[in-house]
Amino acid sequence: MPKITVVGSISTDFVVETDKRPSMGETVEGKSFTTSFGGKGANQAVASARLGGEVHMLGAVGTDIFGEELLNNLRENHIFVNGVERVTHPSGSAFITLFAQDNSIIYVPGANGEYTPEKLNDFVATHSIIQNSDLVMVQNETPEETVQELIQLCEELKVPLLLNPAPARSLNQELIEKVAFITPNETEFDVLFPGEEMETVLRTFPNKLIITLGSKGAVYYDGEEIQEVPSTKVSNVVDTTGAGDVFNGAFAFAYSSGLKIKDSIQFANIAAGLSIQKVGAQTGAPTLEQMKEHEDFEKAWHFK
Ligand code: RIB
Ligand code: NA
Repeated sequence: MPKITVVGSISTDFVVETDKRPSMGETVEGKSFTTSFGGKGANQAVASARLGGEVHMLGAVGTDIFGEELLNNLRENHIFVNGVERVTHPSGSAFITLFAQDNSIIYVPGANGEYTPEKLNDFVATHSIIQNSDLVMVQNETPEETVQELIQLCEELKVPLLLNPAPARSLNQELIEKVAFITPNETEFDVLFPGEEMETVLRTFPNKLIITLGSKGAVYYDGEEIQEVPSTKVSNVVDTTGAGDVFNGAFAFAYSSGLKIKDSIQFANIAAGLSIQKVGAQTGAPTLEQMKEHEDFEKAWHFK
């Protein structure tokens, strides 16, 4: 069972579905409203845990009622939450509007923004949890200084770190050198490497930079050639929110289970494809049993 530690955001998603985007000052009637569990960190943690990973979560929730529910949801997904602090801020939240064509999100960090480098270091078990991990993951819904601190810490403890740089935020090139994997989508790629050609940058970071391309799958450079790993066909797309998170959580699980990078990406593509057939960021994250039923599973599930 691979051991994965996720440092990251834990939020409630408030999701409104509407046909029309309201213009400034306008009121439109929505079609539905739901609350669901989200936060990029929690989504990735749930994705890894559902597949069978032993997952430890480090982060913060508020002392409000949402904080309690967010913690319970993580526990129900068999995630260790000793490293989740409770702070007096409101818990993190995301206000998501689903339109027919696209989604838009307002993310309010709340407690997630309070997860400072001090909090990461003050928790007595942080070092041992990280040291015992096969892989650590972090995203950009956590303060920049905390991400930087974690990059240093993982380097010191010699534990590979996967940075999912979402949402987009610039990053010092020196720090990119220190992570094992960095997984931007196209928008995030442009923020990380402004004005640079994808192919050139891919060749600069072999077996490290994995660019996700939505329905087109993902691309990376294996040191010899650029590898395009296509996504699996999905006929009934219901909700793409969190698809990137399921990709990252599943990639982490597969890679730390002993799969090669390319197979891990293919595995993650299948998981992300399954997840978008259900409403909500976490609901559709598959179990390993559900993965095994997929026609492409055997193509991905090979050990090194
Ligand atoms: O990646 C999707 C997540 O990002 C949602 O669950 C929401 O919390 C947003 O911030
Ligand atoms: Na989904």
